[in-house]
Amino acid sequence: MIIAIDGPAASGKGTMARRLAEHFKLPHLDTGLTFRAVAHALVVADKPLDDEDVAEAAARGLDLGALDRSVLSAHAIGEAASKVAVMPRVRQALLEAQRSFASRPGGAILDGRDIGTVVCPDADVKLFVTASAEERAQRRTDEILAKGEQADYAQILADVKKRDERDQNRAVAPLVPAADAHLLDTTKLDIEGAFQQAVRIVEESQIK
Ligand code: C5P
Repeated sequence: MIIAIDGPAASGKGTMARRLAEHFKLPHLDTGLTFRAVAHALVVADKPLDDEDVAEAAARGLDLGALDRSVLSAHAIGEAASKVAVMPRVRQALLEAQRSFASRPGGAILDGRDIGTVVCPDADVKLFVTASAEERAQRRTDEILAKGEQADYAQILADVKKRDERDQNRAVAPLVPAADAHLLDTTKLDIEGAFQQAVRIVEESQIK
């Protein structure tokens, strides 16, 4: 079984994917981390974020087993990742790695922006997880404050909107729900409520 989960930044899709992976005992790939790893490699090498040669080489050299969330989860790396993600050769290199993960014999769960539309168009179940920009910015703010760091809600809301705009309007693999995706709006749901709905959708699609 392949489960494809897409949605904008801070929609809750990552937590949802991790919980579903645990529940259905499937390996999980957070494809955002793959774009973040490429962005991180460019930052560390002090290269501009639009250097497609260096970015493609980093993408081709990526070890999916060594993605370190603690380094890659920084807000600034997410911003940088969405710039790296507009480059077609970077997307192509990562697409190959993502597809090879998805073709594991027992199935897999992948989450990102283009899983249901590009990476796994034949996925058994597709979920598109959304929430209002304000709710997503509030969640991001709370996450950062919980780590004891400073967070500015207005700035984060502006960043969330900018990132949505970039992800939805790029030429290659823009953020858009697949025609056959189940829409899950989590604006008024907590994690548990959203997870229960997702489990129901997956179970119902297995019966059909
Ligand atoms: O989901 P996350 O915030 O970690 O993603 C970081 C950035 O990587 C996104 O803003 C998006 O531009 C890019 N991305 C993508 N396609 C994916 C996953 C992430 O373009 N499948």
